[in-house]
Amino acid sequence: MTDMQLLIASQDQSLLDASLRAAKRMKCEVRSAATASAAIDLITGGEVDIVLADIQLPGLRVPELVEAARRCSPESSTIVLAGAENAALAQQAVRQGAHDCLIGPFDVAELENLLERLANERRMSQENRMLRQQLEARQGLGALIGASAKMQRIYEIVLKVANKRHPVLVLGESGTGKELVARAIHSYGPWRDLPFVPVDCGALSPTLIESELFGHVRGAFTGANQNRQGLLAAAGKGTVFLDEIAEMPVELQSKLLRAIQEREVRPVGSNQRTPLEARIIAGTNQHLEGAITRGTFRKDLFFRLNVVSIKLPPLRERKNDIPLLVHHFIDRYSGAGGIKHISDEAMSRLMNYDWPGNVRELENCIQRSLALGSPPEIQVKDLPSSVLYSIESDGGRQRFSTLRERERDAIRQALEMTGGDRLQAAKLLGIGKTTVYRKIKEYELDHIVNSMRT
Ligand SMILES: Nc1ncnc2c1ncn2[C@@H]1O[C@H](COP(=O)(O)OP(=O)(O)O)[C@@H](O)[C@H]1O
Ligand SMILES: [Mg+2]
Repeated sequence: MTDMQLLIASQDQSLLDASLRAAKRMKCEVRSAATASAAIDLITGGEVDIVLADIQLPGLRVPELVEAARRCSPESSTIVLAGAENAALAQQAVRQGAHDCLIGPFDVAELENLLERLANERRMSQENRMLRQQLEARQGLGALIGASAKMQRIYEIVLKVANKRHPVLVLGESGTGKELVARAIHSYGPWRDLPFVPVDCGALSPTLIESELFGHVRGAFTGANQNRQGLLAAAGKGTVFLDEIAEMPVELQSKLLRAIQEREVRPVGSNQRTPLEARIIAGTNQHLEGAITRGTFRKDLFFRLNVVSIKLPPLRERKNDIPLLVHHFIDRYSGAGGIKHISDEAMSRLMNYDWPGNVRELENCIQRSLALGSPPEIQVKDLPSSVLYSIESDGGRQRFSTLRERERDAIRQALEMTGGDRLQAAKLLGIGKTTVYRKIKEYELDHIVNSMRT
């Protein structure tokens, strides 16, 4: 019924029993602590949504406990439990930051009611926050720009997973914004103030990347002159974004899988393990199922990372976002007194292009056009020739055709339009009739002439 994690901090056996029974009926996951410091250790070691703290717990300082719980899980609530004789103390605890107090004697039903109420409050506040963020999200989310239905769907998933700590797999062609999505997940969640650490698994050599991720101890290999903490540990409870994960060598994939499963990392050359608390987001433009079949990607790592996957649409599948993006990039890159607009004709060229390099290519295109053009607006002549002169699109992917291919196509088209009349075709093409005869032979287009004639 709920997916809440409960911590009961008490030494009172009857209270523990009642809480355990209530928690079980409410399907909460429960842990218990017998001292205040044990409670704080448990809180810092994992996610706790609700802390039930017995006012008589040895060493209890309410403000400290509340603070620890908030830091680790911002939506957590601390509830103080007290017998009637300690009611005044319990009320003081609420003034010191506890969410509420419950005055005994306790029974299971009363605790169940409390848990139910907290579960509802939590759900409401999460829903409210999501609604608010969705309203803000119309034209984009964080640094992500786009109002298309496909992007709205992405924003919804981003906002949902932002509150969780599961691994996320972000898929999409190069330049579709995978890193921006990872950053948005990080910055819309409760851990936004902790580090976001991007690692490009494709850019580093296998040994370097192992020591980058896991760290190393002094003397682990030549050049390791001192101990170095790896990025996985350094991120703390923040987010590590493993970009181009398919480029990671298979042996390292095994090590990463083990680290995620055991929630521990072992630096190169060390026997000591340090806790891995970071949330892992991985990105790739590769087809991972294919890589698994080829044996270059571990299936078990795939399953581990693929708890939630977000597939970004290529720009050609959300062309209605192009004007928004274009204006965004003009605003971003045009200095004071610079270009502020784009001509209708130039915009329509941008809309008709297929953008194999996706948003990154569009961003570069606008930067370049701003540099070449002059105020008040970007014109067709300022656009890169790749955008202006691409004609063929082959299964959605751009293919640049050669001059010979274009010439052959033009002649064929002219022949088709003139019913195979070579003289007429030469006129259409603006070349002499002997040239047309020669080129029809050269490109083996005689069959068109003949078939049209009969
Ligand atoms: N939806 C988007 N809105 C705004 N800019 C974007 C968007 N998607 C990508 N970009 C821009 O394109 C570039 C590439 O984005 P990135 O996240 O690195 O793509 P990927 O990791 O998929 O190759 C970045 O400069 C980013 O600013
Ligand atoms: Mg990238």
